[in-house]
Amino acid sequence: MDKLRSLLDRALGPSKVLTSPDACLAYAGDDSDQEPVAPDAVVLASSADDIAKAVRAASEAEVPIVPRAGGSGKSGGCVPVAGGVVIATLGMNAIQEISREEQVAVVQPGVILGDLHAAVEAEGMFFPPDPNSLRMCALGGNIAENAAGPRAFKYGSTRDYVLGLEVVLVDGTQLRTGKRTVKGVTGYDVTSLLVGSEGTLAITTAATLRLIPKPHAVTTLLALFPDVQASGRAVSAMIAAGVRPRCIELLDEGTLDAVRVRGVAVDERARAMLIIEVDGEPSDCDAQAERIGEVCAAEAIDILVAQDAAQRDRLWEARRQLSPATRAMARFKISEDVVVPRDRIPALLEETRAIERETGVRMITYGHAGDGNLHVNLLWNDEELLPRVEEALNRLFLSVVGMRGTLTGEHGVGTSKADFLAMEQQPELIALQKRIKGVFDPKGLLNPHKIFPRRQLEAASVTVAGRAVSLHGAC
Ligand code: MLT
Ligand code: ZN
Repeated sequence: MDKLRSLLDRALGPSKVLTSPDACLAYAGDDSDQEPVAPDAVVLASSADDIAKAVRAASEAEVPIVPRAGGSGKSGGCVPVAGGVVIATLGMNAIQEISREEQVAVVQPGVILGDLHAAVEAEGMFFPPDPNSLRMCALGGNIAENAAGPRAFKYGSTRDYVLGLEVVLVDGTQLRTGKRTVKGVTGYDVTSLLVGSEGTLAITTAATLRLIPKPHAVTTLLALFPDVQASGRAVSAMIAAGVRPRCIELLDEGTLDAVRVRGVAVDERARAMLIIEVDGEPSDCDAQAERIGEVCAAEAIDILVAQDAAQRDRLWEARRQLSPATRAMARFKISEDVVVPRDRIPALLEETRAIERETGVRMITYGHAGDGNLHVNLLWNDEELLPRVEEALNRLFLSVVGMRGTLTGEHGVGTSKADFLAMEQQPELIALQKRIKGVFDPKGLLNPHKIFPRRQLEAASVTVAGRAVSLHGAC
């Protein structure tokens, strides 16, 4: 560590290097249940050159290198679990270019997503990815985790909007990947590989992003249901009917209570709610809203349309605050972001009820039901419940994989799901990814202990909807 500190000081000057335990503590955690770990040093990067110098110093000292942008991740992705140096990119927060003619933006990794939204929308353009932490999360983290959010249903995730990247490799090499043009198929798609690689392959120093025209109108509907199963069936019915809202968000009964506490009045009869939003030309919105109303009417208690922007903003504010609001509901919380095929949403909701009944662990569910991506939150107060929480989690993941779903739709594997990777992926696929990691990072210094399992899973199987399910999703 002494060697690291002196190499960093020499390369960057002491003003950009933090080593006091108090200062380093601010870079220890993220917004997941991963235990915070203070790094040995923090580099406050203000340029790609700073990052290249820091990476060279850390590589020479052979210590872990952990990139960090907003620090709002939900899977432990930027937690320096093996110590080493955190490279903080939040200071690199310039929107370097917004081009209307080319419909692209070039940004540094520390740009706050909400600031990018405001800047491009002021020019009549649109950057759709919208994780609910958009006021604090930064593009570097969004790219590392391939973040999404409610609008992914219609518009896709971050990866769908990254045309090219500038990155620093573990040996300090600065590399440009991808393109600036709309089309381009030269060579392997390294950009797509890097997006979502959770800081384990390279560190982003700039990104060229694809923009689209801003929709002219938005209509927000609320559909209230007597129970969560009915809301799940309405989601499946909308998908089957071919309607294409920009988001379909589901809130179960426990979540609705959290929304009510936040001052949004919701009919007391409602035990579940869907927030459905359509966009486009005003006439399209009217037609889509009408069709959605018809589909939901089969089981809804009531269907409401937000009357003005203020009403819509209040509703979304409550939705965007659900993560902290549910955290406040118990001493301990684990929030998952599993995904199932959309026709299995009712089955997943049923399964969470069964797991809750059988383990005694409270589970509340909300999320991006249009994508089949639900945040199942496990809440408990008593530390002694931990073995049952683990059982509940294990069972949830096995069920999801058994439904041909996936463990994470937008938060990433990080540390929190690393040990479960083998449930979903066959050993040969994990081994292939480890070889790719080895090509980028032969000494394993970049963001170690993320994505890949540290412990072997015990053989496990479970019966889901009458089918026996074993590891690797083999049904
Ligand atoms: C959300 O959709 O609110 C976020 O992904 C965070 C979460 O609640 O897990
Ligand atoms: Zn989410």
